Amino acid sequence: MIRTHATMPFDGQKPGTSGLRKKVRVFQQENYAENFIQSVFDVAERPAGSTLVIGGDGRFHNRTVIQAAIRMAAANGYARVLVGQGGILSTPAASHVIRKYGASGGLILSASHNPGGPDEDFGIKYNVANGGPAPEGVTEAIYQRTTTIDRWLDVDAPDVDLDTIGPTQVGGLAVEVIDSVADYAALMEELFDFPLIRRAVEQGLSMAFDAMHAVTGPYAHEILERRLGFAPGTVRNGVPLEDFGHHHPDPNLVHAKVLYDLMMDPEMAPALGAASDGDGDRNLIIGKGRFITPSDSLAMLAANAHLAPAYAGGLKGIARSMPTSAAADRVAEALGIPAFETPTGWKFFGNLLDAGMATICGEESAGTGSDHVREKDGLWAVLLWLNVLAATGKSVDQIAREHWARFGRNYYARHDYEGVDSAAAQGVMAGLEAELATLPGTAVGPLVVERAENFAYADPVDGSTSRNQGLIVAFSGGSRLVLRLSGTGTQGATIRLYLERFEPAGGNLDGDTATMLDDLVQAAEHLARIAALTGRTAPDVIT
Ligand code: G6P
Ligand code: ZN
Repeated sequence: MIRTHATMPFDGQKPGTSGLRKKVRVFQQENYAENFIQSVFDVAERPAGSTLVIGGDGRFHNRTVIQAAIRMAAANGYARVLVGQGGILSTPAASHVIRKYGASGGLILSASHNPGGPDEDFGIKYNVANGGPAPEGVTEAIYQRTTTIDRWLDVDAPDVDLDTIGPTQVGGLAVEVIDSVADYAALMEELFDFPLIRRAVEQGLSMAFDAMHAVTGPYAHEILERRLGFAPGTVRNGVPLEDFGHHHPDPNLVHAKVLYDLMMDPEMAPALGAASDGDGDRNLIIGKGRFITPSDSLAMLAANAHLAPAYAGGLKGIARSMPTSAAADRVAEALGIPAFETPTGWKFFGNLLDAGMATICGEESAGTGSDHVREKDGLWAVLLWLNVLAATGKSVDQIAREHWARFGRNYYARHDYEGVDSAAAQGVMAGLEAELATLPGTAVGPLVVERAENFAYADPVDGSTSRNQGLIVAFSGGSRLVLRLSGTGTQGATIRLYLERFEPAGGNLDGDTATMLDDLVQAAEHLARIAALTGRTAPDVIT
């Protein structure tokens, strides 16, 4: 009953920052997805009797790959597959389900915030038993396997009815279609003070949540509207669509502009505006009249986390990715707990969380989360903000101002240059890297370079080292430029330039971000020569 299909390796099945992401058309080639999934099964640690979790963000091609993966899991000796109803599991929900049911791992089918549809993107990511993305050793082994693979296995069985909750059998494999939301919603009720938030809602706390026609719709309807009592209609674009309604499910100021405009309208804005991305791990937080950068959100949530039941006992540590602003470091210092600076990519937080060294983590790329799962978690961040708003009775703007008055403010922006010719982008990086050693002590306009380095990370838990994780030029006074190439793009190269200016408490804490960063923009052009080397005179996206 097990079928062996001959195949040949495909080039380029190397998982990036967050799994294998390609155009749908690439995944539709015969054997393409199967080769990758078989490579995962060939190298994954999965003792006899293992459970595999499968779910995705509902994008085009999701169901096709899920059906194939189930037949392959049956042939590859898994004992049980848990699959979200309709093939839906948000990334944080999948992480939770893996942990809760002791699965040996999970396949998450998503290209995160990239658009979906027949001509857009698809992705497959493998998460391991702790619920987090496979560490580099595992993704490298998967990749190596894709270069030699010559067969994949499945069983001859009909499609599973993904829309009906309950058990079914595929060959010797027990398949269970599970409620996509229930386990996750129950976890959120444990972490946060739902009765307190409910009372605040009754007393007028209002919000708008944009699910961007992506995976968080069902989660947000259940948690925000049904369990917390927010008015129907609070969740916008709440029905997951295969093409996200032709939108780009990326919760930033460009793609969530409608929400942003609402939040800047003094008459119409609710207390909190929030959005999440394709697979539900990212978040956007906007208060009435006040956008909160992801870096600031991390710092403010860390400073106020004790107001939520799960964190009332204090935090063990705070971790942020290197390009994320240093705002959270100052909170860690005030709390007397360690601050960690890791390379970009949520997987680098896994060891710190597993070892109990950090409780809260965050990234400038709109990811925030804690040790409750091993992924970043968009709705978790929204619920923690709601818990803080309900507990303090303050507005988002008030919380932000008080935070800056105490800790100082890290003005922050990221400039993205997308679809750049790869050689030109490499040239920008190589050009700056070659200068690094000469920079300390030199003046660039009004700024003086204090330190310049190519960031390397030594993991304090397993001792592994990750090099070439981005170029840092740090100036005296706490301002900084960071330059790195995106690991998630699907076309050409994306150059990311991160700009950060520290303004101490007592300084100009309510300035215009672009104005406050102007010296840094000039310095970046002088040092990195992006315009000269790529012909791009302005970034495509500023977040
Ligand atoms: C994914 C990962 C994040 C990471 C981001 C970086 O979303 O899950 O942890 O921060 O990629 O993307 P980039 O395009 O900057 O490499
Ligand atoms: Zn995502």
